[in-house]
Amino acid sequence: MMLEELGLQPVWKLREREREVPGVAAMGWEELGKTISSCTICPLHKGRNKAVVGAGNPHADWLFIGEAPGAEEDRTGEPFVGQAGKLLDNMLAAIGLSRKSNVYIANTVKCRPPGNRNPEPSEMSACRPYLERQIELVGPKLIVILGRIAAQSVLDSDASIASLRGKRHACRNVPAIVTYHPAYLLRNPEDKAKAWEDLCFARRFMKEL
Ligand code: URA
Repeated sequence: MMLEELGLQPVWKLREREREVPGVAAMGWEELGKTISSCTICPLHKGRNKAVVGAGNPHADWLFIGEAPGAEEDRTGEPFVGQAGKLLDNMLAAIGLSRKSNVYIANTVKCRPPGNRNPEPSEMSACRPYLERQIELVGPKLIVILGRIAAQSVLDSDASIASLRGKRHACRNVPAIVTYHPAYLLRNPEDKAKAWEDLCFARRFMKEL
């Protein structure tokens, strides 16, 4: 189904990213991974142990976008491997998904912010050519954005998570929805029921696509 039929407008215009990362628009997974791992465009690279490119099926129908790697992720190079990652895997399993089969997971920034602070808008913007290329390479049917920080950056919005949840958005030309970040849900388990509503909404939305 086309975005227009769903009443959606793409938020991201296809931008010329070549100026920021030469050649990014033509990169395959291998070159993209190497470029990300040696990137020095924003200050986050200074504290990097391993860049966290992403994980999962590189041609998945579902793309989940988180915020930034934490300490465990920086050490292993894998996204969502800590406690929040366990919860994310459980959330995926609840709707029949798994990073081993039908999901790809990426973050708005690929290097860990110091002290696990939120990534700055300038850092997310510097890293965006990589995320855009990942979206192109995966070619997902639906994007699920995890948490306010990622949602505001990816959707280019300053709206609250409460107002972004439960609505149909678009990221580039791909339909997208927003739910809570698993790390937030660990701190606020009373909102898990709302996250479950979001996942059911995502599943219904996917059936239309
Ligand atoms: N939180 C995120 O947003 N991403 C990760 O990869 C890990 C924790």
